[in-house]
Formats: sequence, structure tokens, C-alpha cells
Amino acid sequence: MTRYSVFRLEEWFERYEFDVEHLLGSSSCAGMTVSELSEITGEAFNFEGCSLGATPGPGSSELREAVSSWYSQGSSKNVYITSSSTEAIFLLIESMVSKGDSIVAMFPMYPALYQLAEDNGVEVRHWKLDHANQFEPNFDELSALVDETTKVIIVNNPQNPTGQILLEEELRRLTDFVNERGIQLWVDEVFRGITVEGGPLTPSIRDIDENTIATGSMSKSFGLSGLRVGWITAPKHVLDNLLHIRFYTTVTAPVVEQKIAAVAHNHRDKVIGRNQTIVDQNFAYLKNWMGEQNGIFDWVPPRGGPVTFPKFAQNVSTDDFCLKLVENHSVLIPPGKYAFNTEGFIRIGYGESRQFEEAMSRVSDALEQFLN
Ligand SMILES: Cc1ncc(COP(=O)(O)O)c(C=O)c1O
Repeated sequence: MTRYSVFRLEEWFERYEFDVEHLLGSSSCAGMTVSELSEITGEAFNFEGCSLGATPGPGSSELREAVSSWYSQGSSKNVYITSSSTEAIFLLIESMVSKGDSIVAMFPMYPALYQLAEDNGVEVRHWKLDHANQFEPNFDELSALVDETTKVIIVNNPQNPTGQILLEEELRRLTDFVNERGIQLWVDEVFRGITVEGGPLTPSIRDIDENTIATGSMSKSFGLSGLRVGWITAPKHVLDNLLHIRFYTTVTAPVVEQKIAAVAHNHRDKVIGRNQTIVDQNFAYLKNWMGEQNGIFDWVPPRGGPVTFPKFAQNVSTDDFCLKLVENHSVLIPPGKYAFNTEGFIRIGYGESRQFEEAMSRVSDALEQFLN
């Protein structure tokens, strides 16, 4: 029997994602065709002359350089390309912590970021983002969560599922906190670049302190989730420790996908800009929609990224609601309870659906039937 617990968020998607008419719960920005990417970037894709031999384990130098240009103190030597940031998470957890250690992880959060550690016998302590406190992390609580067993603090910025963000001042507070205690800080930055209502961009933790780890992905703010390309940028000793584990996973990232990812990175502003436009349109609609719900939700609006986590004002089984929504209305939203161990909330993604209004009107229909 496997020691890994069921990844319920992904399992929910796997069950319905390719059969539903509206994917409203995704955290990825809307996918695009190769020709759309070519049009946005002004680059023609021609793979005829591309060698299909493997690239070095840390990735093609072309992509590593393109990624490192996103970090002001970036060096391509500290960029390690992975086959999706899911692989990055796996390699980091497997190489950094083991039984007897503890980690502190924001909660709720994308479950892979702590569940894998728990499955390995690591004690996971939740740094709670409390709805009553506008999902703002409480630094006094953080102090009480760490002790000499604590190896890593894991944060997601912008945050999935709450849409909370940490800006430079809070990030500096975090780096001071970990540096005083000799704890490794890791920030998952897969939503970097996507703002809400023209709000602030979240800085990379690597530009604040080079002792930290950041992970990134082509899936989310770039909207290229089918590429399955991600990366880690970290101090050398962190990367050295995971190299041997990579030989058991994918050895190196796929070559054609790395080429496409490099083009997207070299035209980052345009690619993320296209997704920001979709996010802005959908979010404006969502905000109005929330205003018309007559108190059904107690909503803390997101401050960054393409997801939000509205709370039902009354007691509702979100598993039942989301099941009805998918089965009767063909709209997929992950339930807070099943997917994030947080009853009473649902996660809405506003970066993916280009028929957002239609999808939201089906949610209205489902709410009317479910709550009456
Ligand atoms: C916070 C976060 N990190 C990482 C991932 C994994 O993304 P990918 O494997 O597509 O790079 C996800 C996916 O939803 C996520 O939400």
C-alpha cells in the first residue's frame, strides 16, 4: 500500500475536469494554442531543427537564463528547471525533511505543499489564515509554531485558495524571523505577476533574501499548464541535495516544452498581460455578482492571483453543493471541505473561464435550488 494519502483537490478535478462545460474552480489562467502564443509573443515556432536529445538535468541554458531574468539578483546557476512545479514540490519535500522534523505551512493552502511531508511522518503545523482576520497571517502565532525541530516554513504568495498576498514589508519580517532561528523559508510563487484590480505585484522572496527558496510554474500566471514546466530557484546547497532524487522522477524536463517556456518567459509581460486582461474582466464581473448575493457569502476579496475563497454565511455542506453544481449544472468548483479541509468555503478561479458570466449564472441557479 502506498504511503501517500489521496490528493483530494486534484482527485476532484480528475473526476470532472474534462467532462464539464465550465471549469470555474481552476487556479490556472486560461490555456492557449501554440498559434495564439506565437501571435502574442511575435515568435514563430518551428521545431524542425530542434534536437530531441535530452537537456542537462537542471534544464536548458536558454530557459534557465530566461527564468533567471525574472529575478533582480538572479543567476541562472540557481535556477533548476523541473517537469512542473508539482515535481519541484516533490523534490524539495523529499530532500529537505524527514520523520522527526516539523514544518510550518500556511493553511488552508495547496495541499501538496504540506501533505507530502505529513505522509513522510513530518509534523505539519498550520499557520492559519483566519477568515475573521481577512486571511491575514498573524506573526505572533508564527512564533508559537516553531521550535528546534522546525526545518522549513512554507508560504504561498499570492495565496491559493484565499487570494491573500504578502508584500515586501511582511516578506522582510518573515526573512528576519527565519534567519534569527536558522529555519529555511520557501515561497511558492506560481501566481506571481497576476494582480487584482491593479493592486500591487508581489515581489519574489529571492529578490529579498537569497537564502530563501522560490518555486514557479508555467501553469498559472502564464496559462501554459499543459507544458508541465516549473522551476526552483534556491541556494546551491538546496539544489545539490535534490539532484539525486530527480533520477527517480523525470531526470530532466522535456526539451520542446522548455523551448516554448523560454519564448513565453522572454515575452513575459505580453503573456502574463494577456492573462491579466482575462482576470480583470472576470474579476469585475465576480465583484458585481458577489454584491448581488444578498448575504449568501461572507466574502474576503482576494488581493492577488486568480483564485478566491468565499465563505457561505450559513452552514452549508460544500461537498454537497459542489457535487450538485457539477452534476446538475456542469460547473466545476472544488469544495472547501473535500479539497482544502476547510468546511464552509468554495474556491472560485477567475482566470480560466472565458465564459465566466455564463458559468456564474449557473452558480446562481444552483444556489437558488440548493439553499431554498
Ligand atoms: C500553489 C500551487 N503550487 C503548485 C501547483 C502545481 O502546479 P503545476 O504542477 O501545474 O506547476 C499548484 C496547482 O494548482 C498550486 O496551486
